[in-house]
Amino acid sequence: MAITTCVFDAYGTLFDVSAAARQASQEPAFPDLKDRWGDLANQWRLKQLQYTWLRAVADAHTDFWEVTQNGLDWALEATGLDGDAALRQRLLDLYWELQAYPEVPAMLAALKAAGLNTAILSNGSPEMLAGAVQSAGIGAVLDDVLSVQSVGIFKPDARVYDLVGARFGCGKDEVLFVSSNGWDAACATGYGFATAWVNRAGEPLDRLPWTPATILSDLTTIPHIAGA
Ligand code: LAC
Repeated sequence: MAITTCVFDAYGTLFDVSAAARQASQEPAFPDLKDRWGDLANQWRLKQLQYTWLRAVADAHTDFWEVTQNGLDWALEATGLDGDAALRQRLLDLYWELQAYPEVPAMLAALKAAGLNTAILSNGSPEMLAGAVQSAGIGAVLDDVLSVQSVGIFKPDARVYDLVGARFGCGKDEVLFVSSNGWDAACATGYGFATAWVNRAGEPLDRLPWTPATILSDLTTIPHIAGA
């Protein structure tokens, strides 16, 4: 089946999540971050994701903003940076203004020019996603921004992936789902989407029952893969 609909994970896929810690590390107010920002960014991201999975299996859903703050608090303590309230606030503020990866605007514009549907499907709350879409300037090349908030559970629950067919009226095999999270791309393969894993960091493949159909190092070739 031809692809009609391209759907993207948000954080780490379209938006550079490590940019918050990297940018703060360049500001004179936070000298302690200079040699620790990479470690902090990794631990923040890992804990944030773990909390989404734990809350999904424990049936204890909450807003993605809360798990983002919980993950940051854990990571600040683990890296010995938990005494700096101004740093915590600066990192949280930067999370609402993440930049898109450089190839994103042209890639989305090419999909739209070819008549494909484009959307975000994310754990993020609608408010967080609206902030990131606006600061990245990509609202005009997205048909919709779908948040897990409407189903009250995080990825990779199938009810999240169901949002795509419900919104666009398309079959699973018409959807190309793109994520920088190997587990997200793998689980979306299991769900029935065509998938691409954007593995910018060269990480090992997740050991799961499914594997992403395509593995890429950035998003440049997405229009070609989608047949646009
Ligand atoms: C998202 C996270 C998982 O945007 O990256 O859903």
